[in-house]
Amino acid sequence: MAAVTHHPFLSSKLRLTTKPNPSRIGPTAVRMSLQETAPSLAVVGVTGAVGQEFLSVLSDRDFPFRSIKMLASKRSSGKQLTFQGRDYTVEELTADSFDGVDIALFSAGGSISKEFGPVAVERGTIVVDNSSAFRMEEKVPLVIPEVNPEAMDGIKLGTGKGALIANPNCSTIICLMAATPLHRRAKVQRMVVSTYQAASGAGAAAMEELELQTREVLEGKSPTCQIFKQQYAFNLFSHDAPVLSNGYNEEEMKLVKETRKIWNDKNVKVTATCIRVPVMRAHAESVNLQFENPLDEDTARNILKNAPGVVVIDDRASNLFPTPLEVSNKDDVAVGRIRRDVSQEGNHGLEIFVCGDQIRKGAALNAVQIAEMLL
Ligand SMILES: NC(=O)c1ccc[n+]([C@@H]2O[C@H](COP(=O)([O-])OP(=O)(O)OC[C@H]3O[C@@H](n4cnc5c(N)ncnc54)[C@H](OP(=O)(O)O)[C@@H]3O)[C@@H](O)[C@H]2O)c1
Repeated sequence: MAAVTHHPFLSSKLRLTTKPNPSRIGPTAVRMSLQETAPSLAVVGVTGAVGQEFLSVLSDRDFPFRSIKMLASKRSSGKQLTFQGRDYTVEELTADSFDGVDIALFSAGGSISKEFGPVAVERGTIVVDNSSAFRMEEKVPLVIPEVNPEAMDGIKLGTGKGALIANPNCSTIICLMAATPLHRRAKVQRMVVSTYQAASGAGAAAMEELELQTREVLEGKSPTCQIFKQQYAFNLFSHDAPVLSNGYNEEEMKLVKETRKIWNDKNVKVTATCIRVPVMRAHAESVNLQFENPLDEDTARNILKNAPGVVVIDDRASNLFPTPLEVSNKDDVAVGRIRRDVSQEGNHGLEIFVCGDQIRKGAALNAVQIAEMLL
C-alpha cells in the first residue's frame, strides 16, 4: 500500500522540524487527544494541502477525539497515514462515511462539499466547511473565531442535530484578522485590498508546479503549465479564479461579500485586486482603510499589538515588516507598515500590510478553532 507523500512546504514534513505550540504540548506532556468521551472526527480531503494541515493543527492543539476517519477520493483509498503515532488507512468518501461522526472538517473542494455536506448534516454531523459552497447561504454561519464567534451560537455537540458552519475564504480571514480590531474602534467605511497570494492557496498540485517550473526555467526549458495557464515561476498574474461580468474575479468578490456578512454590515464598501505571486506558502495583503471616526497610527498599532491572533512587525528603522516566509507555519497573522494614509484628511485613513499562512489561519487553524468552540 502506498504512503501519502507530500510537498516539502506542506505540513507533514514540516511537522518533523517545527516545534509544537509549547503552551499546549510540553516535552514531557502526555498526549490527551485520544479520549473515550471526546467527539468522533472525520477529515474530508485529508490527502490535500489543507487536509494535511488539519492533522497538524489537531495535533498541535491536542484536540480531543475518540476516533478519526481519514477520507479522500477513490484515488487515495488504501493509502497509509501516520497520525499521532498511529497508522490510519485513507478511506474513500461515501455517504456512509458520516455514520457516527460528530464533527467533519471538509476541504475537498466546493462540489464535494455540496454533495456530501448536506448528507453529513442529515446524519447528525456538524460540518466545518472550507470551500465556498455554503458561505453566502443566509442560515450558514461564516465564522472567524476572533471576529464573530456569536454567529455560531446555538450550534452544539451532543444534540444529535447536524449543522453547517462555513470557514471564510483565506484572503478574507487574513484581512479581517487585522482590520476587525481597528473596525471595532473607528468603524471602517471603505476598505481597499490588494493581495499577493501564494501557490499553496491553489492546493498541493500548484505548489508542485511552481517548484517544477522554477527548475525548468533555471535549466532553460519551457515551463510545464498544467495547473495555471501561464508561467508562474519568476512571474505574477491576476488570480486564477473565474472573472465575472463586472470585471472582478471570484476571489475579489469573496472579499467584498464575505466581509459584509462577517461584520454584519451591508454598507461597508470593499474593493479588491487579487494577484497570484510565486511564493510557495502564505499570502500577503495591502489593506487601505477609511474610517468613520478618527484613529491615529500609534493607537492603531497598540490595538493591533493587543489583538488576539495578531502580531505586529513594524520596524521602520530597520525596514523590517511582515513577510510570507516569516509567517509560514505560524498561527498568528502579522501586521506592519502601519501608517496614516496621506491621501485622506486627518486621521481617517490607515495603510497596513498583512501576512498570514493561509493554509493554517486561512483554512485549517480557523476551522479547528471553530470545532474547539463546539467542545
Ligand atoms: N489551499 C488553501 O490555502 C485553501 C484555503 C482555504 C480553503 N481552501 C479550500 O479547501 C479545499 C481543498 O483545498 P486544498 O488546497 O487542500 O486542495 P488539494 O491540495 O488539491 O486537495 C484536495 C483534496 O480533496 C480530495 N478530493 C478530491 N476529489 C475528491 C472526491 N471526489 N472525494 C473525496 N475527496 C476528494 C483530494 O483527495 P485525493 O488526494 O484522493 O485526490 C485531496 O485530499 C478547496 O475547497 C479549497 O478552496 C483551500
